[in-house]
Amino acid sequence: MKAAPKTSTVGRSKAVKEELVPDTKQLNAKLCSISCANSLNAYDDWEKPTCIVSDGAYGVLGFDGDTSDHLDLPAWYEPHIEKWSKYAKPNTTLWFWNSEIGWAVIHPILEKYGWRYVNANVWDKGKGHIAGNVNTKKIRRFPVVTEVCVQYVKEPKIDDLLLKDWLLREWKRTGLPMRKANEACGVKDVATRKYFAKDHLWYFAPPERFEAIQKYANIHGAEAGKPYFEIEGQEGTAERWAEYRAKFYCPHGFTNVWQRNSLKGSERITTAEGKAVHLNQKPLDLMSNIISASTDEGDVVWEPFGGLFSATAASIALKRKAFGAEIDQTYFYYGLKRIRQQLNQLTLL
Ligand SMILES: C[S@@+](CC[C@H](N)C(=O)[O-])C[C@H]1O[C@@H](n2cnc3c(N)ncnc32)[C@H](O)[C@@H]1O
Repeated sequence: MKAAPKTSTVGRSKAVKEELVPDTKQLNAKLCSISCANSLNAYDDWEKPTCIVSDGAYGVLGFDGDTSDHLDLPAWYEPHIEKWSKYAKPNTTLWFWNSEIGWAVIHPILEKYGWRYVNANVWDKGKGHIAGNVNTKKIRRFPVVTEVCVQYVKEPKIDDLLLKDWLLREWKRTGLPMRKANEACGVKDVATRKYFAKDHLWYFAPPERFEAIQKYANIHGAEAGKPYFEIEGQEGTAERWAEYRAKFYCPHGFTNVWQRNSLKGSERITTAEGKAVHLNQKPLDLMSNIISASTDEGDVVWEPFGGLFSATAASIALKRKAFGAEIDQTYFYYGLKRIRQQLNQLTLL
């Protein structure tokens, strides 16, 4: 069977028709490292991420190489998802931007590679996003003014077991009755009800409780099976256990519906003639929200489909360390300019 011809949007929605050549293919700084490259060839050189912001193909011919519909998206994303899983830490969060149907076809692949769904966030761009009068008789649907940004975490495992199963296995090895786990934590029954539950009531033991269980098991557990609750060959301390849970900090009053107009005004990167350089440029505040919700200062953020590097720009402002790639040299030209300006301003502060 003949392979389907590669789709191209050359010139389709690009404001910048001429090829602009960046003066470098790589920028390395303290707070970021960005390259003009296919991210598939860059991942191996990046530090392991605490957070990945994916804003790639939507199946709408949105950029050269985007697919023409959602059916081709799985093949497009799978090699990337495979790499994300390879380099993810037990506490990595993935933010997957897409259309609703784009997300629907990618969800099974994310699950297949060990990503656990947490929440779907809807970006409502408002009625202002409808360009002029939409002929709903012709399109035969309601006008679309949303995108989704879906939160996933890497399902953490120890000794190839889900945490729930690993905790139970370690405790059983001690030969101690289950109720002693409550004594270990100094609680009435919360340890057996939650941290050692076998069902949906299972709850990640707070790190200090985990350490109390670990210490108790190693004092009172059967001699023959010691040590207990070791994590990757090292003592199971509260700090090590804490690394097995993705970070999440929710600003007060924030919900999963993000009502915000699409980008307008000075934040929009434009050509000298005032045309938007990249139609998919994401608002900095939305990028900042997801990054600050899932990382701390100094953590590594990946932006594999850089465009104008909005997630990288947000990460720099938040003092994270970003790794990003953009395959199209004209977009990279503008993205590089943007990031350089930001870094220059920071050194002036
Ligand atoms: C939806 S846009 C991202 C826009 C970006 N979030 C922003 O705010 O500017 C996706 C970008 O990914 C780039 N891209 C597609 N495949 C890529 C790959 N394999 N490696 C690096 N960049 C890629 C496209 O050229 C396009 O600019």
